[in-house]
Amino acid sequence: MPTLRILHDATETVVEVAPGANLRQTLLAADISPYTTLTQALNCGGRGLCATCGVHLEAGAPPPQHWHDKLAAQFGYPRLSCQISIHHDLTVRIVDDKIIWGGRDADRVWKP
Ligand code: FES
Repeated sequence: MPTLRILHDATETVVEVAPGANLRQTLLAADISPYTTLTQALNCGGRGLCATCGVHLEAGAPPPQHWHDKLAAQFGYPRLSCQISIHHDLTVRIVDDKIIWGGRDADRVWKP
C-alpha cells in the first residue's frame, strides 16, 4: 500500500492509502483540507475546474493526466489534488499561504 506523507502547519501526518486513492479525498478524510477558509465552501467538488484544491508535491509526484493539472504542473502552480491518484509513495505539502489558488513557483515546474 502506498504511503502518503502530508506536511502541514509544521506537522507531518503519514497515512497508508489504497492504491489509486484520490489525493483530495484522502486529505479530506484525514481532516487536512487543501482549501482555504473561503474555498472550503466554494469549490468545484473535485471536478478539476476551480484549482482551489492545489497542493505542492514534494516527492513521488506522478505525471499530470488532467488538462488543468497539466497546466498547473507546466507553469509551477500547486497541483490539483482532486486530479491525482496515489499509486506510489507520495509526499505533499499543504499550501498555507494561499488565498484562493496559491502562487506560482518556477522551481516546481514539472520535469518528466
Ligand atoms: S476541487 Fe476544483 S479543481 Fe480540484
